[in-house]
Amino acid sequence: MADPIPYTESLAESLHVFRRFPLQDVRGIPLMEPIAQQWGLIESFQARPDDLLIATYPKAGTTWMQEIVDLILARGDTAKAHRAPTHIRIPFLEICSPPPVPSGVTQLLNAPSPRVIKTHLPFQLVPKTFWEQGCKVIYVARNAKDNVVSYYFFDRMNQTQPEPGPWPEYLQKFMDEKLAWGSWYDHVRRYWEERHNHRILYVFYEDMKEDLEREITRVAAFLEQPLTAEQMAVVVHHSSFEVMRDNPMANYSSIPTAILDQSISPFMRRGEVGDWRNHFTVAQSEAFDTHYRHRMGDAEPHFRTRL
Ligand code: A3P
Repeated sequence: MADPIPYTESLAESLHVFRRFPLQDVRGIPLMEPIAQQWGLIESFQARPDDLLIATYPKAGTTWMQEIVDLILARGDTAKAHRAPTHIRIPFLEICSPPPVPSGVTQLLNAPSPRVIKTHLPFQLVPKTFWEQGCKVIYVARNAKDNVVSYYFFDRMNQTQPEPGPWPEYLQKFMDEKLAWGSWYDHVRRYWEERHNHRILYVFYEDMKEDLEREITRVAAFLEQPLTAEQMAVVVHHSSFEVMRDNPMANYSSIPTAILDQSISPFMRRGEVGDWRNHFTVAQSEAFDTHYRHRMGDAEPHFRTRL
């Protein structure tokens, strides 16, 4: 694990390098400018066979899965799992800030094996050594309507992402596949299609909300780390929304307000299935559904927008 103090300190001392970065095209995918500028480093990243990748479209439940995986690997030892904030425990592969803030790749180069790594990259942009090395990947997918609402509130509070603008325009940008990390539609579909070609466990946010213990059991089996009943109870409890919301090691409160302004919207915001109904108008929902059917057809994966 990279040393959390220098990273946290370097963030605090480098606030002037942060701004709302524009998006820049990388092989057809819009990514934040610093990521695009340092793309060569990311593309040539050397995966190790025992790396575990947690891949998601932004706001699909990444942090939730990171917490679960870390608790499983710690066999429910919460002191171990709470040794540092999420982004230190499980570095974000492609994140780049202007120097001197260390990039995700730098953090990972210094990390001992086995590494757990977060990415939002669509399948085709994941460094190819992950596939060559046969790494395990856990993919979390969330229904598009809740995903875009969550992303909207996140882009309001995240002072490094492009200004989201008003909600109707933001929704259109999602449908036009113009948000950071590109098309939700292609993202969720491609990993689904590739899940039998590689060691990919595909998990739905809605399934986690429906029966967390069942989904943790799937993850633990995939990691070949079956839990005792006692360990399972700890993992379930500590990965609940309420406990994570109040856990400074899981709620991103260690990131300076100049980067994540939680007074605009908390990182742990609602954590529900169906919150989209509080934000979509009836007309927006109908137009979205029509576009969705046109874009996705009957193809899997199929999502639930309410439980
Ligand atoms: P909302 O904005 O809908 O509340 P990511 O980690 O990919 O950025 O996703 C963040 C979303 O996952 C937020 O959704 C957040 O509240 C939700 N989330 C995080 N931990 C959760 C948990 N333990 N239970 C349910 N939802 C959780």
